[in-house]
Amino acid sequence: MPLDHAQPQTIFLKDYEAPAFAVESIALCFDLREKGTRVLSTMTVVRQSENMPNLVLDGDPQMDLLSIKLDGTPLPAGRISRAGEQLTIKDMPASGVLEIEVEIEPQNNARLEGLYKSGGNFCTQCEAQGFRNITFFPDRPDVMTRFTVRIEADKAAYPVLLSNGNRIEQGDLGAGRHFAVWEDPFKKPAYLFALVAGDLGVLSDQFTTRSGRTVALHIYAKARDLPKCQHAMDSLKRAMRWDEEVYGLEYDLDIYNIVAVSDFNMGAMENKSLNIFNTKYVLADPQIATDTDFDNVEGVIAHEYFHNWTGNRVTCRDWFQLSLKEGLTVFRDQEYSADQASRSIKRIHDVKTLRAFQFPEDAGPLAHPIRPDSYIEINNFYTVTVYNKGAEVIRMMHRLLGVEGFRRGMDLYFQRHDGQAVTCDDFVAAMEDANGADLGQFRLWYAQAGTPELTIEDHWEESTGRYELHIKQSVPQTPGQTEKAPMHMPFLLGLIGPNGQEMDAELVAGEGTRHDAGWLLHIRQSDNRYQFSGLGSRPIPSLLRGFSAPVTIKASLNRADKLFLTAHDSDPFARWEACQDVMIETLLDLVKAVDAGQPLDVGQDLIDACEKILEDAQSDPAFAAELMTLPGEAYIGQMMDVVAVDAIHHARIHLRHVLAHALESHWRRLYREMTDTVFGLSPEQKSRRALKNVALIYLAALGDNETARTHYAQSNNMTDRLAALQVLVNGSDDAARDAAFADFYDRFEMEDLAIDKWFALQALSDKPDTLKTVRTLRNHSAFSLRNPNRLRALVGSFASGNQLRFHAVSGEGYAFLSDIVKHVDQLNPQTAARLVLPLIRHERYDPVRAGLMRKQLQALLNVDGLSKDVYEIVSKSLM
Ligand code: PHE
Ligand code: ZN
Repeated sequence: MPLDHAQPQTIFLKDYEAPAFAVESIALCFDLREKGTRVLSTMTVVRQSENMPNLVLDGDPQMDLLSIKLDGTPLPAGRISRAGEQLTIKDMPASGVLEIEVEIEPQNNARLEGLYKSGGNFCTQCEAQGFRNITFFPDRPDVMTRFTVRIEADKAAYPVLLSNGNRIEQGDLGAGRHFAVWEDPFKKPAYLFALVAGDLGVLSDQFTTRSGRTVALHIYAKARDLPKCQHAMDSLKRAMRWDEEVYGLEYDLDIYNIVAVSDFNMGAMENKSLNIFNTKYVLADPQIATDTDFDNVEGVIAHEYFHNWTGNRVTCRDWFQLSLKEGLTVFRDQEYSADQASRSIKRIHDVKTLRAFQFPEDAGPLAHPIRPDSYIEINNFYTVTVYNKGAEVIRMMHRLLGVEGFRRGMDLYFQRHDGQAVTCDDFVAAMEDANGADLGQFRLWYAQAGTPELTIEDHWEESTGRYELHIKQSVPQTPGQTEKAPMHMPFLLGLIGPNGQEMDAELVAGEGTRHDAGWLLHIRQSDNRYQFSGLGSRPIPSLLRGFSAPVTIKASLNRADKLFLTAHDSDPFARWEACQDVMIETLLDLVKAVDAGQPLDVGQDLIDACEKILEDAQSDPAFAAELMTLPGEAYIGQMMDVVAVDAIHHARIHLRHVLAHALESHWRRLYREMTDTVFGLSPEQKSRRALKNVALIYLAALGDNETARTHYAQSNNMTDRLAALQVLVNGSDDAARDAAFADFYDRFEMEDLAIDKWFALQALSDKPDTLKTVRTLRNHSAFSLRNPNRLRALVGSFASGNQLRFHAVSGEGYAFLSDIVKHVDQLNPQTAARLVLPLIRHERYDPVRAGLMRKQLQALLNVDGLSKDVYEIVSKSLM
């Protein structure tokens, strides 16, 4: 098929070469103007490799190059050439000072990469390759340099001028302009550069490090949002303390700045001492943020803070190593959050995320190892695989080496690599060397894509008291990887006796050790056998406790065993897992019955188990809420060969209906008992709110419209308000729904993050006319294709969160999405490439739907001037 653009180029890890030139230092001067900003860069460049005479710099092809001098003399035209993203300086001497002046247009930058404007302020986003939109530079993470940054701007419009490091100078320039100079003492790659100029308020505080240094903490936001920054500030201080306590890591500068901007492609960015955040992960007060939002703010604040050591002090050699910083930092933020409230609920949430997003990625056309071998557009590799599976891989090392062993490995990693740009292999080597461990086979986790599948059978021999587990593993084929070797993974096992107690036993065959949470078995082969002796009766195995490896399991456990575990397992994760398993099994049976037009039967055993959960709910309401939350429609779809879009929806509604009716008195009681008169954010209060709002869902399933209406009217916080809206948007009481949505809009018209929720909830409705509503909302005055949060709220929620309506068999949902993607791609390719993802797994659907999805993908591929971001995703999905 003819493409109007040249076929984008693929970059390979195997082609990595060390940089030919180092940059010793760079001085940047920004002359910020409303129409065009001039950037003057002065850098000292030193040759590193004899056989590379030319200096190649990266730069946006659109960038206006005004002048270029070497050691004070303008370079003649014959010494420079520009092709695509590269500027080549021929016959560069062994060292020299380059002065380059460019003009850029931040006011027109809709990609939100490089220097751009958000809410009238200037800000930057340079990871992964945004710095090349600011000036010409060797824009790769292994070129680390010392930055000095001078910013000049109008004083009234941009009173705040920030960059990395310390402010060493500031003053007036006359004519209403002023300047500031910032110097970062740490060498860093260009992707960690940041600049902000704007009219911002600031919340300030300070932190005393354990060695007694005082660090000034500042959170900058629009003045009216400052009261919503306190939770972020408290989270930051807790994170700083935690990293000292758990890893002995202290902050290294006298100032730590966070700036909140409302136009941002991702969640947040760890620029050295000047984090730039999506407002979504900074602003939180009970009126606009749910309990989940509070937790997310805390997690992301911690994540970016932790990057100061895992990412900034030790960075990545090249972008294939992205998981070096991201997998490790996600692991660190997960552990931090686990230490704040409930470790088991945090684990459940993290596993749910992994299964909902990473497992499908790993099983689809874009499957890649956590350290990819190739890419067309690196922005497409900020994935749940690199981040969340990457974190699981770190977690497995943590499990294999133990808390202290892991800490020894971290210490050695920093000792060896502080100030360097390194590889995933360097990290694993530090873990090995600090522990005398062999992680040779374990390294396959970095190279092999695909979610390993475990098949487990057990055998009990009454006469000898021996119990055998037989665990087989296989790693599925993924694009470009047809041959897979078996992986090394930790498998945490519990053996539970008839009284619900852990059983004592001895491991007589197979590799494993006793562990405080059961047995830590090592899986290394395709075929693994473990034998236990000394058991008085047949144990019920509690498998993969804590989700000790990111795998799927097929086990010979029957339903009664699983319900037994639901009631008795001492490992909370395993309890939840067992209960979910039975729910999934039930739902899949219901799907079959719906399709066959047979009566729908849920099974009294499940109802009884749920009753038990509700009877005991008081002791840990949030955990009961988790147990009683039904698996989502998309996840049920993953369990099927062909996703039965409509039947899944009906089956799930039916199960909820049955559990609502059978347990009605419990739901009414809990709804009452879990209602607090005063609002608070303590873990206990959040926990009770969680169960109350699950009860609300079941009460609504009884056809009780009144409760949701009252719930909305009486809510004094966003968690409750949203819970009510969620119920109303799917319910039968149209008048109540319309009134609540109108009220919500009026109430929060000025609050972007709340209005995002207003868009999202309507897009998530299971009503048959949802697409029509979404189309209308696309033309709402508050909607904009330029704001990623708003796009994700309306379009992202509909396409990735509403399986029933997005996958309507008419194909209209697909057409709607592809039209949006086409438009967004012209503005912001990075965000467009994320929005298109719900279309790519066409092979999972029936021929009619699959054909309609492919038709839209094909149409996108034919779009004139398609970005390489979208091209990479779409073309790979059609291979
Ligand atoms: N590095 C950022 C983070 O994880 C994510 C990010 C990537 C932000 C690319 C912007 C652009 O924490
Ligand atoms: Zn990160």
